[in-house]
Amino acid sequence: MRFDVLTLFPRLFDAFLVESLIGKALARGIFEVRVRDIRDFATDRHRTVDDRPFGGGPGMVMMPEPLGRAIDEVKASASAGVKPLTILLSPTGRRFDQETAVRYAGQEHVILVCGRYEGVDERVSRTRIDEELSLGDFVLSGGEIPAMAVIEAVTRLLPGVLGKEESAEEDTFTNGLLEYPHYTRPRVFEDLPVPEVLLSGDHEAIRAWRRRQSLVRTRERRPDLLHSAALSDEDREVLLAFEAEAWGLGGDEKDEADS
Ligand SMILES: C[S@@+](CC[C@H](N)C(=O)[O-])C[C@H]1O[C@@H](n2cnc3c(N)ncnc32)[C@H](O)[C@@H]1O
Repeated sequence: MRFDVLTLFPRLFDAFLVESLIGKALARGIFEVRVRDIRDFATDRHRTVDDRPFGGGPGMVMMPEPLGRAIDEVKASASAGVKPLTILLSPTGRRFDQETAVRYAGQEHVILVCGRYEGVDERVSRTRIDEELSLGDFVLSGGEIPAMAVIEAVTRLLPGVLGKEESAEEDTFTNGLLEYPHYTRPRVFEDLPVPEVLLSGDHEAIRAWRRRQSLVRTRERRPDLLHSAALSDEDREVLLAFEAEAWGLGGDEKDEADS
């Protein structure tokens, strides 16, 4: 898989692309990232890439010509028969999520366009962008951190990027739920012991405990996710019992409330 990143601040990617899992996976050739400076596509002596907005207002807008040329050149360099997916990072885009990361992981070539200033001239978006993507409901100063987030979320899903000991299979959102809590040594930290069941060696009890934690955590923190999560009858019973407990209903009282 190949990523091209178009940015006005290419050096922001220097450490990102050499450290940790991404650095190792790049060194092993599992995927490829090319970072291009949009300023290289300006044609004037000052390498100008922004201008004042038509209609007035604060800030500057990224001009269509240098950015348009940059995108065209990257698209022209794609491998034969590959049509890159071109994404503009923008707070006005569709919100990024795990499902989108899975979809992008199936692409051969993704171009990530990082905005700065007030954003890019709308005509670049209309003529050259396939999708506008937001990292979340907040405004950053540039698209570089969202682009890094996309690269990291997508490449975690590529075979060989995570080591044997890590796995994306149980990650939060992968099965539609938040992940269960984790514990490691020591057994007691500041008077807080590790839950007994995790020391029991009983794999079925551990699985059931983790599933319950996952369900309850999702119910408490992100109830919206439960609407689309695949839940078994056992899961529904766990959630019902949790609700009853939360409402202070014991077995008998719950029966009365149900009747
Ligand atoms: C200061 S922002 C522009 C904000 C724009 N004026 C608005 O209100 O929608 C500059 C650039 O940062 C990036 N950016 C900021 N917040 C983002 C977010 N939540 N998701 C993705 N990109 C973002 C985009 O590339 C954007 O063009």
